[in-house]
Amino acid sequence: MDLLISLSKQITDQQSLILVCKSLDDIKRFSFTKEETKYLESAIEKEQNSIRLNRYSHQIFVVLTKGDLEKIRLAANVLHREINTLKIEQLTVVDYAKNKTEALAFVEGLALSNYQFLKYFSEKKENTLKGIGLHFDGSADDIQHLQSVVDGTCVARTLVNEPFSYLTAPQYSKDIERLGKEAGFSVEVFHKSKIEALKMGGLLAVNKGSIDPPTFNIMEWKPKGATNKKPIVLVGKGIVYDTGGLSLKPTANSMDMMKCDMGGSAAVVGTMYAIAKAKLNVHVVGLVPATDNRPSGNAYAPGDVITMHDGTSVEVLNTDAEGRLILADALSYAKKYKPEIVIDLATLTGAAARAIGKQGIVAMGNDKETMAALKESGDRVHERLAEFPFWDEYKDDLKSSIADLKNLGGAEAGAITAGKFLEHFTDYPYTHLDIAGPAFMLSPFNYRGRGGTGVGVRLLFDYLKYKSE
Ligand code: BES
Ligand code: ZN
Ligand code: ZN
Repeated sequence: MDLLISLSKQITDQQSLILVCKSLDDIKRFSFTKEETKYLESAIEKEQNSIRLNRYSHQIFVVLTKGDLEKIRLAANVLHREINTLKIEQLTVVDYAKNKTEALAFVEGLALSNYQFLKYFSEKKENTLKGIGLHFDGSADDIQHLQSVVDGTCVARTLVNEPFSYLTAPQYSKDIERLGKEAGFSVEVFHKSKIEALKMGGLLAVNKGSIDPPTFNIMEWKPKGATNKKPIVLVGKGIVYDTGGLSLKPTANSMDMMKCDMGGSAAVVGTMYAIAKAKLNVHVVGLVPATDNRPSGNAYAPGDVITMHDGTSVEVLNTDAEGRLILADALSYAKKYKPEIVIDLATLTGAAARAIGKQGIVAMGNDKETMAALKESGDRVHERLAEFPFWDEYKDDLKSSIADLKNLGGAEAGAITAGKFLEHFTDYPYTHLDIAGPAFMLSPFNYRGRGGTGVGVRLLFDYLKYKSE
């Protein structure tokens, strides 16, 4: 099912082509028949931006690109449907517009649209498209980077799409180990005894109701020529299924999509995969605490006081606010790397999803430089950041009458108090990304598709690429 993107040196008009241009003038050199030229002109007069010329043995598409990179990705997504209906297997995109970035965005839109998760169907209706050539003024490196980030995004999508019936925490670790071998990053898995020895009380408390043990996954990509001395650490929420625990999810159907609650960690794994495949010159560590959260006779309970990896005591007032408990242990574990910066990704709060929906990522933190760079990356790849305030006054909502902190804020600003809870466990420049809104789609959302979107991978890849240059 993998889609291969390649640099295309030679083009003939005997194969299916997409001619990307700004106007018909750009493609004058292409050998159209008189009838074809006439047809193209009249279609363009009717303001059609995507025109198909049927040459029977193959197809020629003429695409006029308008607007920003996202408009171009969206146009590619619309065209992808037609390509698949026509059962095209291989096609070459020719950049007559002479705009490298736009050509890459177009191919990215096509490639991401081609993703499917068919594992559980008896009859697999696979998309026909298997390869895209790109004829443009770019390099093999450009293609390699695009292939890597597309593959990393699809890795993240598949991890999210896998149901809990398959993806328990131990299985997740096996998958991460396999992906590490495939892409070339190293993986170390801590199992329950090691997690106990490290006194990761947050991860252990959330795991108490589970029938599967927790895992703590450490990924590392450390190339020889890394531009950074101290590592960049990425932390992802790895709740493989969130029932809410004893504070069982109260809203009808709200549990249906909770296999997506490891979406933050899937973005971290997908990013590690992409940067290792692309061999980016940057030293990155990925940390993923993983467990499910469910009720049982042994489950942790509202009112419990637990002791975290760093010694902080936490009063648990709602077992559905579990993400911050497992992330807190990972964030305090991250201190040992003396990181340059830390970024975490998590499907952390319904509040973040309600605030901005699927259109972007709720971001907050105490690291202005990283926030600014991430915002620029987010605009480029259209995984945009909406920065929320991170004022210390919000910490007041986390005061407990019995312990150092409580895991529940007040009635307001739920996404921010969750972020402030996490910040307590950090001693480095810190950025928190709440992806509860854009991580999972119940119905198809353009090239992001249905189910897991892989949000975060393209953002982090773009950011790390900038850091590596
Ligand atoms: N996993 C959920 C957050 C979530 C909601 C993710 C919707 C994706 C879509 C998280 O663990 C949770 O349940 N948060 C609670 C926190 C509350 C109890 C403080 C929430 O947001 O309601
Ligand atoms: Zn929860
Ligand atoms: Zn959760």
